[in-house]
Amino acid sequence: MRIRAAVLEEFGAPLVVQEIDLAEPRAGEVLVRLVACGVCHTDLYTASGADPSGYAPTVLGHEGAGVVEKVGPDVGSLAVGDHVVTLFSPQCGKCVHCLSPKTNLCLAIRDMQGKGYLPDGTARLSRDGEPIRHFMGTSTFAEYTVMPEIALAKVSPEAPLEGAALFACGLSTGLGAAMNTAKVETGSTCVVFGAGMVGLGAVAGCRLQGAERIICVDMSEGRLELARGQGATETMTGGDDAVERIVEMTGGFGADYTFEATGNVKVMRQAVESARMGWGLCTVCGVAGRGETLDVIPRFLITGRRIAGSSFGGVKGRDGVPRLVDMWLDGKIDVDPFISHHITLDEVNHGFELMEAQDGIRSVIGFGAA
Ligand SMILES: NC(=O)c1ccc[n+]([C@@H]2O[C@H](COP(=O)([O-])OP(=O)(O)OC[C@H]3O[C@@H](n4cnc5c(N)ncnc54)[C@H](O)[C@@H]3O)[C@@H](O)[C@H]2O)c1
Ligand SMILES: [Zn+2]
Ligand SMILES: [Zn+2]
Repeated sequence: MRIRAAVLEEFGAPLVVQEIDLAEPRAGEVLVRLVACGVCHTDLYTASGADPSGYAPTVLGHEGAGVVEKVGPDVGSLAVGDHVVTLFSPQCGKCVHCLSPKTNLCLAIRDMQGKGYLPDGTARLSRDGEPIRHFMGTSTFAEYTVMPEIALAKVSPEAPLEGAALFACGLSTGLGAAMNTAKVETGSTCVVFGAGMVGLGAVAGCRLQGAERIICVDMSEGRLELARGQGATETMTGGDDAVERIVEMTGGFGADYTFEATGNVKVMRQAVESARMGWGLCTVCGVAGRGETLDVIPRFLITGRRIAGSSFGGVKGRDGVPRLVDMWLDGKIDVDPFISHHITLDEVNHGFELMEAQDGIRSVIGFGAA
């Protein structure tokens, strides 16, 4: 079929929205009609050429939500009409990681996904007979996409798909960091560095876990305001003295749980150092620049602090995303404040500009009726 999609033709150049071809879903694959897709930093990171594993041409986009239009052979868990959220982090349910409760890093399709192909090693996207690679196994800056069944989470049809799209990446990452990775305990004191999509999700996750104090640190007063809306009990502007101030605010000890959601390795260090002696746990969510390292004084670890990393918030996507969406429908998560701009596919480059200007939290591309 012919579809409209935003193609990354060349690193550092704007995406080009155009008609390309999308082949039928093969065994274990599903055709999804996108209804909404968020514009995320990772898309821009790849478009800019900074991502060492990036490739072009490809169709970017990974924060998608839509409706199943057709299923290929051997698809058992999804049917035409189902509402789905796309998962760059799939859940096959069978690999050694899927069978362990300790991780969400499914091993089933990693190699091919990283190279830009569907699990059988081929692409469904093409132009004039030449294959175009898939991005993150999702390629959702497009009217339609073909994805593996194991990379689609079936969500409640009650959930508006524009909001549901945010659960495909940043929001679930933040919520999950607090709920799955750190498993924040009731009554604890938490610090969240960064109040973008991920940090705000972490603030909401700490609140849902029953944290007593949630201190959010960011450089933007507007974002700190959003953090208060998500449950931050205290907010402060970041800076070189952030650790000192947090230690002072917490009776000289630091916080039970700290979260880093900035991607800045200096802030990661601050997050480690503001965790409490004895048992403080620092969860790192941010993606650092190529070659950057995290500096940690070993004494901080010997005296009982721990560091954890979190990919997609430790959420096993097919099980976890529908549960988080249900919590939203139950009124426990407030998604609307994150959607700052509604744009069309043709305005995708404007979405990147808004993100670079830190204008709002998320621009969401709308493709038409659910
Ligand atoms: N682990 C994962 O699975 C995963 C998933 C999505 C995104 N990420 C990463 O998480 C990070 C955050 O993503 P986002 O979309 O929320 O980004 P964002 O850019 O919207 O938010 C980052 C925030 O950090 C703040 N900040 C910058 N310097 C600071 C400082 N010194 N102290 C305190 N705050 C500071 C900024 O003001 C901004 O609000 C990025 O590195 C992103 O790549 C990771
Ligand atoms: Zn993302
Ligand atoms: Zn798996």
